[in-house]
Amino acid sequence: MAEKTSNISGFYKLPPAERLKVVKQLAELTDEEAALLGNTGGIDMNTVDIMVENVIGIVGIPLGVATNFKINGRDYLVPMATEETSVIAAASNAAKMARVKGGFHTESTDPVMIGQIQLVDVPDPEEAKEKILKSKDRILFIAKEQDSVLAKFGGGPRDLTVKILETEQGRMLRVHLMVDVRDAMGANAVNTMAEAIAPMLEELSGGKALLRIISNLAVNRLVRAKAVFAKETLGGEEAVDKIIKAYLFAKNDIYRCATHNKGIMNGIIAAALATGQDHRAIEAGAHVYAAMETYKPLTRYYKNKDGDLVGDIELPMAVGTIGGVTKVHPAFKACQKILGAKTAKEMGEVFAAVGLAQNLAALRALSTEGIQRGHMSLHARNIAVMAGATGDKIEKIANQMISENNIRMGRAQEILKTL
Ligand code: MEV
Repeated sequence: MAEKTSNISGFYKLPPAERLKVVKQLAELTDEEAALLGNTGGIDMNTVDIMVENVIGIVGIPLGVATNFKINGRDYLVPMATEETSVIAAASNAAKMARVKGGFHTESTDPVMIGQIQLVDVPDPEEAKEKILKSKDRILFIAKEQDSVLAKFGGGPRDLTVKILETEQGRMLRVHLMVDVRDAMGANAVNTMAEAIAPMLEELSGGKALLRIISNLAVNRLVRAKAVFAKETLGGEEAVDKIIKAYLFAKNDIYRCATHNKGIMNGIIAAALATGQDHRAIEAGAHVYAAMETYKPLTRYYKNKDGDLVGDIELPMAVGTIGGVTKVHPAFKACQKILGAKTAKEMGEVFAAVGLAQNLAALRALSTEGIQRGHMSLHARNIAVMAGATGDKIEKIANQMISENNIRMGRAQEILKTL
């Protein structure tokens, strides 16, 4: 996609097969990849039967592509799988608005994940802590030995910390193993290492290793995205002020903040789902990160000296371009190709930009005309389709139901009969 634009005029007006053709060409999908996305949802029963247990079928989720994303000067088409109307359109709209001032700018930390080892029944926690820290190099060496591939690509264990936890049943030790997992999500590598170093930790502490598992609070694997939205693009200075006030509502009220952050995750999870990420890990990490002090918005907004709106986002992002199920599920593979992120770092940064775009779109809609109008027009189209409308009848029926403020299946059927 390097030389190509994601600003595709009239993309949303095309029928799905035509859209797929455009994406196929831009993302250089093979005929097979395009066919599997367009027809079957990309996977067969034999493959799903290997992926999970007790398989009885496959649930389809709509897959769309968000347009207009320019990130660090490069154009991206973002595949998004979601059942919620308006999400993909809203992300595309906000990305279009961001383009006016150069699009999104992103950065991220190294992809360092945390493995946790819980040590219980430790006779002398202070002494154990000291002993473990003194043996840090040996412990890191054992961890490193577990994954030679990771080491070859410049990843591997980085550090180890120990904390004494006061609990309802006495004191426990929490050992954190920090691992640079490069382009993997990291759960497999980290869990293997955590299990491998546990016996040595038991020996050093005189205690018992209970849990040995990755933490989904990936505070060392953060992504940030920032964009300037020109006031004229947003609808003037008043619109900027309203968006800032909407943000301040979330900053100062956790009930609003939950919804604010949910809107951000609408975009991130849709992109994560399409590309085969462990979206539960991303969601868990995001909300706990938001709550590390008091529960706060993952985005921030302020006005710059020109009166334009600046938005930024920061959150943990445990994503992978290798490993996991991404290579088993052909649709995830094809979606990764559409996204075109070469590394997990790049993918995470795109997701952050999507989260920011999603949030900006929601705040703009909510602080101006409200969210229902946009929702309702898509809802009306869905109802028209369910009533049996096809082709341009869908739009006609939807428009009439909206103008009558009467969006119901019965009404859609009545109008259909008259056409
Ligand atoms: C709906 O899925 C998401 C929004 O509620 C987000 C928000 O309120 O910021 C529109």
